[in-house]
Amino acid sequence: SPKNRSIAGLLGKRLPVAAGKLLHDLGTVGDELGLAVYAIGGFVRDLLLGVANLDIDVTVEGDGIFFAEQFAARHGCRVRSHRTFSTAVVIFPDGAKIDVASTRLEYYESPGVLPTVERSSLRHDLYRRDFTINTLAVCLNGPSFGRLTDYFGGQQDLQERLVRVLHNLSFVEDPTRVFRAIRFEQRLGFHIAPHTENLIRSAVRMNVLNKVGGLRLLNELIQILRENEPVGAIVRMAGFGLLPFVHPALKLLPEIRRVVEETGRVLAWFRLLYLPDACEQWQVYFLALGDRLTTDEFHDACRRLAVPGRISTKVFSHRRQALGTLDAIQRRLRRNPEVRNSEIYDWFHGLPLEMLLYLAARANREEVRRFVSQYVSRLRQVRCSLDGDGLAALGLAPGPRFRTIMDRLLVARLDGEVVNDEQERALALLLIASDGGASVAKMHH
Ligand code: CTP
Repeated sequence: SPKNRSIAGLLGKRLPVAAGKLLHDLGTVGDELGLAVYAIGGFVRDLLLGVANLDIDVTVEGDGIFFAEQFAARHGCRVRSHRTFSTAVVIFPDGAKIDVASTRLEYYESPGVLPTVERSSLRHDLYRRDFTINTLAVCLNGPSFGRLTDYFGGQQDLQERLVRVLHNLSFVEDPTRVFRAIRFEQRLGFHIAPHTENLIRSAVRMNVLNKVGGLRLLNELIQILRENEPVGAIVRMAGFGLLPFVHPALKLLPEIRRVVEETGRVLAWFRLLYLPDACEQWQVYFLALGDRLTTDEFHDACRRLAVPGRISTKVFSHRRQALGTLDAIQRRLRRNPEVRNSEIYDWFHGLPLEMLLYLAARANREEVRRFVSQYVSRLRQVRCSLDGDGLAALGLAPGPRFRTIMDRLLVARLDGEVVNDEQERALALLLIASDGGASVAKMHH
């Protein structure tokens, strides 16, 4: 039947040879152990859509941990297992990983007593999943390698490009699926099916999102804001009324939407620089979304989401100061549009990259974006060639003048007053000989 057609041909055609061989190896071990083995979920969905995805999830009808250990022993892999969930991760020598789940559930009724094992079926297992497009399973066992199992109409929904839940309580059981629905819809260019949309609306009305813990909510938000083009998903979240669950004052006002869209352009520009620095895209979008929140409201939103301290310290703690700087820059530009590099350096230096990109996105003036761009691509790398030891070797006695002279030399470098090491050395000598560099600094400005 078309429901259980074979996609062995597709597996051979669309996957790299090594991945295809791996699937066969998984099936072979299943054959030896008498266990049915399936590739499931996002991997199958993306395979049918022709989207590259080598993130293989496996489900074993039976004891997945036992299967994982046996497979690992035969193929020189390590295993990390989680008994409570009957899941395991097979880790290959090159670091590649495969998640293995079981359709077998164990219940420990009381300590010291053997667990009650429920061998649930593949169908039962798939029924617990979020959307029909994620319920497709491909059998890997030799005799039926490539046989597609489609219990819930996943193929048809892939064809009609629909995100559809399996049953009416899906969002009540797991409210984070509301975000997943939006993420898949936007990433794949699908539509959330009408009835599923109604279920989302009623879940929102029932405030089920309030029951989701901070970190879980943050995790869903991060996954959305890390997508390639998250603006559509942000608009969709706002449309479903999800933003107030992060903070009551969070709304996608037209001016915030402008900042969010500009963030997309700024990040696209940044990617084209191919800089080695990792930039956390989600943090830039998060700052953009919270653009109109007061400092207190922004902190409350971070608390609601349980944003880890190391992240809020790095990115969000200077938010108020950074916004103040941006205002000061815009006022300064109205007085006089001529700006020295050392001023730009002074404005931005010490701010994390994410905050700089956010400032560029929210600035009303094109010049500000240019300044951020100069700073990020060039000015922040500028260094003096002389260091403390270098100054000492030129005869400067230890003391507070080290700092002032170093700062003065950096300004000279940034503004092109000195363009090579020799000129820098000459300026250093002049500064050392003068009264702490103060009068020379004045002379230059
Ligand atoms: N799943 C679910 N409910 C959730 C999270 C996950 O039912 N709240 C199921 C989905 O069916 C999914 C599978 O668990 O296919 C694996 O989850 P995940 O790796 O998050 O999904 P992928 O489909 O692989 O998504 P991505 O492409 O973003 O990795």
